[in-house]
Amino acid sequence: MRIAMACDHGGVRLKEDLVAFLRELGQDVEDLGSFGEGPVDYPDLGQEVAQKVSAGEVEGGILICGTGIGMSIVANKFPGVRAALVHHTYAARMAKEHNAANILIMGGRIVGSGLAREMVKTWLEAEFQGGRHLRRLTKIEEIERRNFKG
Ligand code: RB5
Repeated sequence: MRIAMACDHGGVRLKEDLVAFLRELGQDVEDLGSFGEGPVDYPDLGQEVAQKVSAGEVEGGILICGTGIGMSIVANKFPGVRAALVHHTYAARMAKEHNAANILIMGGRIVGSGLAREMVKTWLEAEFQGGRHLRRLTKIEEIERRNFKG
């Protein structure tokens, strides 16, 4: 699976850890930064990943900032993006099974490497369940069509 990843300074250490973990798992990771501890603005990094997911250039994305909140707000501005902020593996599984989340978001100042790795693996391995959940996603697409301009 081709996955784009990015973070701000609040998530750089966790992002580095997850890039290595995903490559060990054989995933095709596109690392879009940030690459140091210096302060950067999460909208700049978040939009790089969200744009690629929205355009279908990658199958999934992972974003990390300090809390995950800023990245969530940015990513969900993009049509077709379903970005889920998760803090535990149950939510990571539900994010795929019920919400078909195509971007996983975590807080680098909230979760440690062990839990983050488990959440990413859980999200990757879970499958969207369709059925009533598909009906709800269709409703979200209708909301996008009515409200996204430009
Ligand atoms: C940066 O200090 C912090 O605000 C950012 O990483 C993130 O938590 C925003 O939501």
